[in-house]
This record gives sequence, structure tokens and C-alpha cells, in this order.
Amino acid sequence: MNIVILAAGMGKRMHSALPKVLHPLAGRPLLSHVLDTARTLDPTRLVVVIGHGADAVRAAVAAPDVQFAVQEQQLGTGHALAQALPLIDPNVPTLVLYGDVPLTRASTLRRLTDAAGRNGYGILTVTLDDPTGYGRIVRDAAGKVVRIVEQKDASAAEREIAEINTGIVVTPTAPLAGWLAALKNDNAQGEFYLTDVVEQAKAAGHPIVTAQPDDEAETLGVNSKQQLAELERVYQRNVADSLLVAGVTLADPARIDVRGTLTCGRDVFIDVNCVFEGDVTLADNVTIGPNCVIRNAAIGAGTRIDAYTHIEDASVGAQAVLGPYARLRPGAKLADEVHVGNFVEVKNANIGHGSKANHLSYVGDADIGAGVNIGAGTITCNYDGANKHRTVIEDNVFVGSDTQLVAPVRVGRGVTIAAGTTVWKDVADDMLVLNEKSQVSKAGYARPVKKKK
Ligand code: UD1
Ligand code: CA
Repeated sequence: MNIVILAAGMGKRMHSALPKVLHPLAGRPLLSHVLDTARTLDPTRLVVVIGHGADAVRAAVAAPDVQFAVQEQQLGTGHALAQALPLIDPNVPTLVLYGDVPLTRASTLRRLTDAAGRNGYGILTVTLDDPTGYGRIVRDAAGKVVRIVEQKDASAAEREIAEINTGIVVTPTAPLAGWLAALKNDNAQGEFYLTDVVEQAKAAGHPIVTAQPDDEAETLGVNSKQQLAELERVYQRNVADSLLVAGVTLADPARIDVRGTLTCGRDVFIDVNCVFEGDVTLADNVTIGPNCVIRNAAIGAGTRIDAYTHIEDASVGAQAVLGPYARLRPGAKLADEVHVGNFVEVKNANIGHGSKANHLSYVGDADIGAGVNIGAGTITCNYDGANKHRTVIEDNVFVGSDTQLVAPVRVGRGVTIAAGTTVWKDVADDMLVLNEKSQVSKAGYARPVKKKK
């Protein structure tokens, strides 16, 4: 089967410089969703018809299995499909999808292509309470499809028809070039309508069949930011439902956003307003507090992530405790039973088994062993203004509060660093390290007072 995705339209009502099909739904371009669905049908040719913002669209979705046909002027859906003709195989049917209709399920498309077979002309239709704006399916007394009439060309009686053309069709390919060449644009919009092919296919003896989607939302297109926002909610509700079906507990299925793939083990709990991006894996018994943002991360079994924690490109072992307000940046790798508390930032650092950084610290470009305690306010000074350097802290080190570690520096196992120490030289195992400084107390100091007016 060939699949052609029409995506040349400009999307005037989006009021945006970004081509319509590149507007993101669940973090990815609308067109990428359509391409993904198309790929699950194993097309032999996959063609995207581009026009408005062609370069940007091509750059965004280029892949070895995708070919592009450029429609220089948007003269209608029939004209758009004609641009793809040189790139498709005449011996197999062609399925036509729209780049701005992102939620169609593969099962629905398969039902349509199965109904049409090799020789039929298949139309995906749906019956709407309010069909305004859509092309209507005109049937004869026997219920057979006669033609499709666009809203702007329809008579008052035809406008009463509630069954509409979703735009998604499957057609035999060999006769298609002739049919498209015969289209006329003597209609209300002066366009070459793909919908007018139906009458030619019927006249040529091809059975005209219809199929319906499981869910009306599968056929909704995006023409405005309102519609985009509505489809985003539909998408997110579907994701939430599949998580619930898989046994995940969601505090509120209406308040979770997944922009990518979220894979959960057993007995996972997710509180409200969490955002998951990219590939995120939560192992068994993970608990996520409210308002967390987690992107491209793997979280080990039994780990608890408290409110307002941000995690990006990081991994966390089992039975760890993070947050509230913890931040793991790219390259943070936490072993089992690590604790990272409030206002602690970890970047490009390994933290070993059972180590703790519970308060107000920066751990960057560091290798921290097991059983290390990092006191409040500890900073790895990893940046000299030009280059980054590593801090190595071996097992069982006690880092006193308000310590600065000026990298590159190595602290041997079992070392104790006194509070307020600046460590800029390596320290051998089991030492106590401190900076000599004295404490001075002066009597009789008068603190300034505000002058009374
Ligand atoms: C089309 C159908 C209508 C159907 C509706 C469903 C026709 C004539 N009408 O109408 O029956 O109910 O979709 O949403 O087919 N496109 C191009 N090049 C063009 C014109 C359109 O690539 O020259 C693409 C658009 O980017 C879009 C799709 O085709 O992805 C549909 O175009 P649009 O203008 O939205 O069609 P409608 O008038 O809504
Ligand atoms: Ca449309």
C-alpha cells in the first residue's frame, strides 16, 4: 500500500509563523503523529505532500522511509494528491491521510483499507451532531454513496446530511492519474477537489465503501489553537486511560501530561500535575509527588520523588528519596538508596549507594562514593571560567556544611571535612580536613540603629 499525507496547507487560523503541521501535540509535531500511525501499516511508499513552509516541514520529519512531493500552489486536495503520483506504486492501493488530523488509529485505517480491498474506493466517514463545514456524503435511496458535496457547494437539503467526509480515503492507484487529471475547479472554492473523484470511481465500476472510526476524535483536524488544545486534552486523556488500565494509580487522570513514552511497573502512584517527556521508565512501587517534571529518565523500584522535583536525562536507583524541590540535570546517576533533598542540584555526577545530599547543594562533574554525607550548602566548584573539572569523593566521606570543593580535587575514603572548609588540594584517606581560621568575639559593639524622623 502507498500512503500519501497531505500537508501543504498553510493553517491561516493558527496565526503562527510555524507551519500548521509542525505545531506540537504531546510535544511532537502533528505530522509526526500521522507518520507514526502510517508506519504501523507498513506502507511500501510513504509520501508527504508539502507546500507552505516546505523546507521547515521537510527538515522536521525527514527520514529514509519518507519521500516528499512539493505542491507549489495550494489548488485543492485533488491537486495535492496529484503531486504525489510520480512517487507511488500504481499496482497497490493508496491511502490518503491529512497531516493535521493526528489522532486516527491504525485499527480504524485498517478497517477502511480492508473494506475497500484492492479494487474498492473507501471513504472514512462519521456522523456528527453538527456537520457544518465538512463535505457531506450523499447516498441514494438504496443507501449507496453517490458523491461527496462540499459545504460551500451543498444545497439546503444536502446540508441537512449529518454523515461527513473525514477526508481520509483509500483508492485504487492505477486509474487515479486519469481521475485526478479530469477534475475541474468550477466549484464554490475554485479548487480541484479530491472528493470529486468518487463519482469517477463509481462510474468506472469500483465499489464505493465506507468505514467509521471507533471514536469521533480520531477524525478531528487542527485548524486553530482551540482545536489544537482540545486534541491535546483528548490525547492526554487517552494516555491517562491506558495508564489506569495498566494498573497505575493517578491522583487525577485529568492532570497528567505525557509528551513521549511513560513506562510503569506495578503499583506506581503519580500525584497531580506531573509532566513526563521523552522516554521515562518508573519501576515497581515508584511514587511521584505533585508538580514534578521528568524527562528521559529511569527511576528504580520503590523510589519516592517528592513534589516539585525536576529530572532530565538522569537515572535513579531503587529505594531512593528525592525532593521536594530536587533537580537532577543531564548525566546525574544515582545509585540505590541515595537521598537528594530540597534545592540540591546534581549534574553529570555519579552518587554511590546510600549517599545523601539533603539540603541546598550543587554537585556537578563529580564522582561520589557510597555512604557519603554531603552537608547543607556544599558546592563543587567545577568551573574555572573556561573549563570544567571533576571532584572525586570516595566512600564514607563526611562533608561538613558549607564546604567548597575546588575541582579538580580528590577526597580519600573516610575523610571528615569540617564545616566551612574550602578544599582545593587532594586529601588522603581518613584525614580530618579544615581551614585554619580563628573566631573573634569583641565586646561592646554597638549595632547601627535607624534614625527616627
Ligand atoms: C476537506 C474535504 C472535505 C472534508 C474535510 C475534512 C475536499 C475538497 N474536502 O475539506 O470533504 O470534510 O477535508 O476535514 O477534499 N491540502 C493540501 N493542498 C491543498 C489543499 C489542502 O495539501 O491544495 C491539505 C491541507 O494541508 C489539509 C488537507 O489537505 O491537511 C485538507 O485541506 P483543507 O483545506 O483543510 O480541506 P477542507 O476544505 O477542510
Ligand atoms: Ca480542514
